Amino acid sequence: MITGKPFLTTEQIHEKVIELADRISKDYSGKEILAIGILKGSFMFFADLIRALKTPVTLDFIIAASYLKTTSTGEIKIHYDIREEVKGKHVLLIDDIIDTGISLNYIRERILSKGPASLKICTLLDKKERRETDVPMDYIGFEIPNQFFVGYGLDYDNNYRNLPYIAVFKKET
Ligand code: IMP
Ligand code: MG
Repeated sequence: MITGKPFLTTEQIHEKVIELADRISKDYSGKEILAIGILKGSFMFFADLIRALKTPVTLDFIIAASYLKTTSTGEIKIHYDIREEVKGKHVLLIDDIIDTGISLNYIRERILSKGPASLKICTLLDKKERRETDVPMDYIGFEIPNQFFVGYGLDYDNNYRNLPYIAVFKKET
């Protein structure tokens, strides 16, 4: 079940998206961005963010699943891989939430091995307390506490992704 009022309202998210997009547009002035969204969670943030960018953008997605919880090896499986040419491009990797950092780090290294001109990472949410591996983050929307969140792309068992705000989720007991 979803508890109480939104943790982050539609308005708060919108303001943050515009703020991030302004910073990114300035930093990439005169350059073209290859925006890569990590699905499924980032789809809403990705769509809003790239719409607010003032620089030229091409895009692609990557779908990765972590088996950390079942095997505790942190093994990552790629279900859909980037098809755009990465070599020589200014890649902006866009994620919904960074938790342990294991999947993001894996994807980061995979992209770096393809020789981009540059690679920066943008995440809407950062659950800093939970970090297990260091990932250099360039753009962070909100630092959030160690709770479970749903909405605005984030799911519990693939539910709640369509909520236009972000809420805390607690299992019914
Ligand atoms: P990690 O950083 O490798 O641990 O994995 C981060 C991924 O775990 C995110 O992209 C989400 O798919 C998922 N995740 C972590 N915390 C939450 C949450 O609070 N709500 C929904 N999904 C989450
Ligand atoms: Mg994700």
